[in-house]
Amino acid sequence: MIRIGVLVSGRGSNLQALLDACAAGRIDGRVVVVVSDQADAAGLERARQAGVEAIFLDPAAYETKNAYNAALAETLKVREVALVCLAGYMRLLKRPMLQAFAGQIMNVHPALLPSFKGLDAQRQALEYGVKVAGCTVHFVTEGMDEGPIILQAAVPVLEGDTEDSLSERILREEHRIYPEAVQLFAQGRLTCEGRRVRVG
Ligand code: GRF
Repeated sequence: MIRIGVLVSGRGSNLQALLDACAAGRIDGRVVVVVSDQADAAGLERARQAGVEAIFLDPAAYETKNAYNAALAETLKVREVALVCLAGYMRLLKRPMLQAFAGQIMNVHPALLPSFKGLDAQRQALEYGVKVAGCTVHFVTEGMDEGPIILQAAVPVLEGDTEDSLSERILREEHRIYPEAVQLFAQGRLTCEGRRVRVG
């Protein structure tokens, strides 16, 4: 059973997918803490509903991003977290977090990386005119949306798709592959060889 910490900034539907998968035994792990940089993140409420400790860690209370990241790392370390899952967390992690949890941080991004990094990935994909879109679960490194890829899922872009309809189709796949990737980690089946993640 691995101890999982989840960072959220907003609605927390991926957090919910992880909570549900843990409850259903599809992940050999437990979400022990949810931390947000936003006091009113719906994800914090989802955590409380599930009986999971929910913490608002206010970035404004820290002088620097590094100091905030050190506090974040400390909050997770004292709870003996072995895997940190970013789930709609809207800040780039800095050194103190990346060093404290090297190889132990995952993120889900709503595009087939390395295409369409950053914000509004679904809109970027639609505007670019791709015929296939999707999502990526990857390990987190210093660069934004750049770490080694663990799992990806593709969805078609349909005639008449809007940003909302495409996002919804992608989100269903996020909710499927994020718990799957976390379970692979929990089972010790992921090894990184450079950029390539081998599933054993
Ligand atoms: C998801 O689309 C995720 O890929 C991106 O932010 C969104 C978060 O949604 N990183 P939610 O908060 O998990 O519902």
